[in-house]
Amino acid sequence: MPIVAPCEAKTNTTPDFPMGWFSVARANELSIGGVKRVVAFDRELALYRTESGVPVVQDAFCPHLGAHLGVDGRVVGERIQCPFHGWEFGKSGDCESIPYCEEIPSRAKLRTWPTTEKNGEVYMWFHPENSEPQWEVPELAELGHPDWSSPRHAEFDVPAHVQDIAENSCDPVHFAYVHRQPDVPPSEVTVEDNGRILHLHSDASQAEIPSQLHATVYQPGFALVRNTYGPGAEMVVYNSAQPVSRHETRMRWTLTVRREIEELAGDEVMNGIISGLGDDYPIWANKVHRHRPIFCKADDTLVTFRKWVRQFYIKPMAASGNTESIANYSA
Ligand code: FES
Ligand SMILES: [Fe+2]
Repeated sequence: MPIVAPCEAKTNTTPDFPMGWFSVARANELSIGGVKRVVAFDRELALYRTESGVPVVQDAFCPHLGAHLGVDGRVVGERIQCPFHGWEFGKSGDCESIPYCEEIPSRAKLRTWPTTEKNGEVYMWFHPENSEPQWEVPELAELGHPDWSSPRHAEFDVPAHVQDIAENSCDPVHFAYVHRQPDVPPSEVTVEDNGRILHLHSDASQAEIPSQLHATVYQPGFALVRNTYGPGAEMVVYNSAQPVSRHETRMRWTLTVRREIEELAGDEVMNGIISGLGDDYPIWANKVHRHRPIFCKADDTLVTFRKWVRQFYIKPMAASGNTESIANYSA
């Protein structure tokens, strides 16, 4: 007699964290000498900016007696000082000074995560084995360009894994049901030759306001969506993610539009994005992650997404799902 498997809601099928660059703060939230507690990848982290202006992300707990460096830690020159007994750690993570002892234990180190600052954000490179970055964060040419409006920002905590949020953009069918858009334009998902960057094209030339949508997904948690309504009428929405845990992701949105249409596309667009996420919210908050989704023949964009996303995991099969159903319906 076959044994009935436990209810899926009680089994944990959510993937681990993918590798990539993930935003941990807006750059203007971190002044010189500023120290912040950050929770990302189910880890406690300390984010700080040294006197010379360099942002640093390190594991938060002091190797001495475990104080949290992101809570009342202090920047001293290029180091962070622990609030408990004053040990100081450099940007490499090594303990460089113990105020009451000459000799520094060789194991007194903090794990340091590669960090960069671009596009008005601070990003950290996450890799489950803490290995070196494999690509760079793209620089967004529209931000700060005189032809484009000053950026508008929004933040939203989403009760979903970062992969599921990325998958949503390759899921045209859900727009009809979740977002109540009756005429979902035809969409195509392709992957660049290098294999890493995924593109989604949606042809809304038949819509009430005709447009072309092009999303460039650089990795799960980092995407740029460009809407073109005509010459000089363009809008760019860029989103970057902070995976807080496997069930929660902080999304940071940045919107800029060509000056020509600034009056038409501003706060309203940003509010539309936020309310769109509100539509997705109950689905995300209550769904399970399917390792082995049963795809139908018309789910080709989702199949492409699942194949593409494997590369961001060091254990790809466990992370991305059912090779069988992908094989069945691959184009
Ligand atoms: S716990 Fe950090 S110096 Fe003691
Ligand atoms: Fe959605």
